[in-house]
Amino acid sequence: MALKVSTTNRIPPFLAMEMMNATRKLEVNGADLMHLEIGQPSTPPPPAVLQALSKSLGNPQTHGYSLAFGEMPLRQRIAAHYQDWYGCRPDPDNIAVTLGSSLGFTLAFLGAFDRGDRIALANPGYPAYRNIMLALGLEPVLLPSRAAEGWLPRLKSLANDSKLPDGLLLASPANPTGVVMSDVELKHVCQWCDANGVRLIMDEIYHGLTFDKRPTSAVLHSESAIVINSFSKYFCMTGWRLGWMILPDDLLEITERLAQNLYIGPSRPMQEGAMAAFDDYNILDQNVLRYQENRDVLLRDLPSEFLGDMAPAEGAFYIYADLKQLSKTALNSIDFTNALLKEANVACTPGVDFDQELGHHYLRLSYAGETEEIRNASRRINSWLPSYLKTL
Ligand SMILES: Cc1ncc(COP(=O)(O)O)c(C=O)c1O
Repeated sequence: MALKVSTTNRIPPFLAMEMMNATRKLEVNGADLMHLEIGQPSTPPPPAVLQALSKSLGNPQTHGYSLAFGEMPLRQRIAAHYQDWYGCRPDPDNIAVTLGSSLGFTLAFLGAFDRGDRIALANPGYPAYRNIMLALGLEPVLLPSRAAEGWLPRLKSLANDSKLPDGLLLASPANPTGVVMSDVELKHVCQWCDANGVRLIMDEIYHGLTFDKRPTSAVLHSESAIVINSFSKYFCMTGWRLGWMILPDDLLEITERLAQNLYIGPSRPMQEGAMAAFDDYNILDQNVLRYQENRDVLLRDLPSEFLGDMAPAEGAFYIYADLKQLSKTALNSIDFTNALLKEANVACTPGVDFDQELGHHYLRLSYAGETEEIRNASRRINSWLPSYLKTL
């Protein structure tokens, strides 16, 4: 007899992760793949971080549970990081260390909203935002963002809506578009949310990864916003599963109770390692130069019809390529990425992961890897593309 499986909590797959599954299987069988599918730095965390982690493993104190919001020395170190980068120092009591930023979103959604509440977010956008909301019974309200408007989400469409959303979730730099909001734009969003009683959740996970503009933080402009960040991207610690939130006072108690009950607290050895992540920004900034070079290799070496009317790629490590001009036949981004993987041995993520409506003619290329891998991938794409187009 079939046992019960939830039907209300069914959510779409996260296609970038599905692609990672597919590449693992191919590699076990000896495939030589170029990885442009996952937003994951190819470089390890700085040596000081690895040393701090290995030292912590010998410290009996780190074998026990952590406080739910993480240990105070790391929260103080994160506060000092805000002083270094943004010139403001959040209270460490308002900082919660989480299991990646991913769990930060779950805590934010559970702490600030009730089932049925509506949260606006940019479309295209990071798929897990929408999918976590669906799993929690929240209603995503998609804000179109288009090339012609610099890929910034149309907030005006919200202001004209008869019913304002309960929350607004934005990211800058954004995934998959790489768009970076200016300080004026961010301040305007913070003020609009405060004036209209809309809870802002700002995803700042790609801070540090910009090439020309330096993003500013919502902590500078809002006392009610939830700011979410992570050790995964700039700090190269994706597998460590550590992130943080800066919480407004009214959400501290509920979020701490959620953290205590959902997962008790973050890993203590990982927190000890992360303490050293802020010690040497120079090492990490070298990676940013590499990402910039990688982006330029792709922009220079890939055909302009392949990149299309792409987003500006000013930050993060993604190009959101518009394949529309490649063919008169409508493309399907899933078929396209599958063929690219099987026939050219290059892994990318289909645009429908980020935009279920228009993403079928988009492709996300992650350039977080080594420059040689990026060069190799563009050579493979260039030699494969003409024969693929003939099959359409
Ligand atoms: C925009 C954005 N936010 C959040 C995450 C989740 O990252 P993590 O849970 O590793 O902090 C990702 C991962 O790719 C992302 O692209």
